[in-house]
Amino acid sequence: MMSMANLSIDSSRLSDELQTLARFSDAEDPAVTRVVYTQPDREARAWLKGLCREAQLEVREDAVGNLFARWPGSDPALSAISTGSHTDAIPMSGKYDGTVGVLGGLEALRALRRSGFRPLRSLELLMFTSEEPTRFGLGCFGSRLLGRAADIVRMDRLRDTEGISLREAARSAGFSGDLETVALPKGYYSAFVELHIEQGPHLDRSGEKIGIVTAIAAPAALRFVYTGDGGHAGAVLMPDRHDALTGAAELALYIEEVGRTNGSPDTVATTGVFKPHPGAVNSIPSRCTMEVDIRDTDLASRDRAVARVVQRATEIAARRGLSVETEVINSDPPAKCDDRIVETIEGAAREAGLSCRRMVSRAYHDSLFMSRVAPSAMIFIPCDKGYSHRPDEYSTPEDIANGVRVLATTMARLAGDANA
Ligand code: GLV
Ligand code: MN
Ligand code: MN
Repeated sequence: MMSMANLSIDSSRLSDELQTLARFSDAEDPAVTRVVYTQPDREARAWLKGLCREAQLEVREDAVGNLFARWPGSDPALSAISTGSHTDAIPMSGKYDGTVGVLGGLEALRALRRSGFRPLRSLELLMFTSEEPTRFGLGCFGSRLLGRAADIVRMDRLRDTEGISLREAARSAGFSGDLETVALPKGYYSAFVELHIEQGPHLDRSGEKIGIVTAIAAPAALRFVYTGDGGHAGAVLMPDRHDALTGAAELALYIEEVGRTNGSPDTVATTGVFKPHPGAVNSIPSRCTMEVDIRDTDLASRDRAVARVVQRATEIAARRGLSVETEVINSDPPAKCDDRIVETIEGAAREAGLSCRRMVSRAYHDSLFMSRVAPSAMIFIPCDKGYSHRPDEYSTPEDIANGVRVLATTMARLAGDANA
């Protein structure tokens, strides 16, 4: 087995790069807001491409801006080994979600090159477009297209809150071409490995340094639009009201109850978007839009929770004299990680003297969709108190460097050594 003793991770450069990337943002430091195809996203992409070229990687982009940076192997006929994650960031979030997997993946390739390693299979870094659902409501649309898991007709209809379509937004960021062309052929990669912060408290609490993801929970997102009667908040007496917000509020409380009572501690249910219209203190809300996130590690349990919520949405509307439109934005199955890659990661962690544990990812990741077209697995590192999707998200430089070391070793093992 090849030794990775020569591998030195440039942790201080990587920390600086994470801080630099965080400044491509629409929020004040330490918060980060970097929404797909906005100015900060475009500037961050240009900067990242520069870093990839500086690292002598061959850069290409597809029709939605998924970025590929390749280190050709000595046998280009063999399918490549890839790593990567996302750099978009939800409003008012932190510096490490996704970015550790992109800049850490880049540092893994640079460290391998510095060590004198020569890959047999090509190594490729990926930066996925829009892992986050912020702008178009649909999470992972870049990897969803790559993984052949996207309904292209529906994606073509997606619009942001300003009415701009995904296609128009992509074009304004310099990307064009048919969405169909994004799909990866099966066998294009022989393995995909994503490095990510845990986004939960388990590693931080236990003191273990590496989490090895064996499965990713099944996510679903739904949109409900309640419509009632608006009017003057002083003049319309209570018996005559059809208030869209209070109907939606009743549903939001029920969604929390479903999360708590679905029969599994793994069910989580969240109302993350709640927008009354017109939003004036002296106006009865005539419309209220909600976006709801429901997940479980078990698909049947997740589907049961979704069905309960959808049924209650209609009952509430009927009882309150409202109408409700229900849209399932996505409802994805869970993913199982590849045993061979899981074992390779475990071996790499042990060899580096790092404590590790196998675990399930409750957050979703681009790996959920890459696993449709390539054997995939993930490496988790601890983050402080498990905080994520908030400005005080933090992982130490040491923990990040550990993750990069395990990633680099795993990729080298999977790629094979051309010097051997
Ligand atoms: C990804 O950010 C998720 O919501 O799990
Ligand atoms: Mn995220
Ligand atoms: Mn992420």
